[in-house]
Amino acid sequence: MDLLNAILNLVVPPAGMVMLAFAWPTLSFLQTLEWFFKTLYRENMENKVVLITGASSAIGEQLAYEYARRKANLVLVARREHRLWGIRENARLLGAKHVLVMASDVVKEEDCRRFISDTINYFGHLHHLVNAASLGHNFYFEEATDSSVFPHMMDINFWGNVYPTYVALPYLRQTRGRILVNASMESWLPMPRMSLYAAAKAAVTSFYETLRFEVKDDVGITIATHGWTGSDISRGKFMLEEGSEMQWKEEREVPLTGGHVKEFAKLMVAGACRGDAYLKHPRWYDIFMLYRVFAPDVLGWTFRLLLSDHKAKPTIGRPLLEASPPRKPSAISPGSPRLQHIVE
Ligand SMILES: NC(=O)c1ccc[n+]([C@@H]2O[C@H](COP(=O)([O-])OP(=O)(O)OC[C@H]3O[C@@H](n4cnc5c(N)ncnc54)[C@H](OP(=O)(O)O)[C@@H]3O)[C@@H](O)[C@H]2O)c1
Repeated sequence: MDLLNAILNLVVPPAGMVMLAFAWPTLSFLQTLEWFFKTLYRENMENKVVLITGASSAIGEQLAYEYARRKANLVLVARREHRLWGIRENARLLGAKHVLVMASDVVKEEDCRRFISDTINYFGHLHHLVNAASLGHNFYFEEATDSSVFPHMMDINFWGNVYPTYVALPYLRQTRGRILVNASMESWLPMPRMSLYAAAKAAVTSFYETLRFEVKDDVGITIATHGWTGSDISRGKFMLEEGSEMQWKEEREVPLTGGHVKEFAKLMVAGACRGDAYLKHPRWYDIFMLYRVFAPDVLGWTFRLLLSDHKAKPTIGRPLLEASPPRKPSAISPGSPRLQHIVE
């Protein structure tokens, strides 16, 4: 068996690459045809029901506006209710007929049950579930002074997708609806200072790719992976700062959304209505996937070269690459009250 695997290790990768190289033009042609066909027969969202988690900010907010322009009815979910009311007004001006606001926490299964059942009671059905709730972070793993924050990263970024999906699936099956997932390119292109976030996003991607096989064609799943788009996450808001301390909720009230976020939301909703299985933006990140599989060392060297200079200014906003000395063992402290204040 070992000998067989050794031979296959030598033969299969180059043979697969050669086959792919020949098939690539044909595949690209077929994909383009399919894209035109699906664009022609894309889903009309008028009067359909779309529930968006994480709708109080950036991408979630812009997704709400995109669906509103398509005259869908909306259910906006997040914890900051006051923000949702403003977004509701904007969405109605843009064309959404009915917009419900539901202040809820996606980490709590009972909250998810409540907002899904309220949606069904009010509208009678659900067509798209859009998961955009998340929590980013921006610290080296060793800098964290409080491990109590770790589960929150997984709770919001992973379970915060799973619970709404679990509760909504029977209704999405009835309408042959769709789930729109916000994954991230960090799930396969690791970036420093985002270890827990990247791990959660990788889990999210695996979860939905497996679920796609289970639900077959009854429920569509669009997985969007994107790079930095310019939102709370990328502006350093609602992150874990100085180790495990989080900013106060009030401090997160920042002017939201750059052109990138709007553009990306537009692409996402267009892709979901077309029935795309994946949506990548920008697409050139794809090449790193190949490197990850076939030349991981090259990727490793490149990252080390680009990211090892602690004084180097990052290309993206905040000092993402700034280093600080690793935490000393004695520096681990019990749960931070500031952290509890915001996460509870
Ligand atoms: N921005 C980027 O560059 C980027 C890149 C790659 C992927 N993404 C992904 O795109 C999605 C949206 O990102 P974003 O930039 O718009 O993030 P964001 O601005 O930080 O917004 C996160 C949203 O999640 C909500 N949320 C957080 N915890 C929640 C909870 N427990 N229950 C309910 N809602 C909760 C927040 O609202 P409340 O605080 O009011 O609850 C907020 O509306 C995320 O999945 C993110 O991982 C973003």
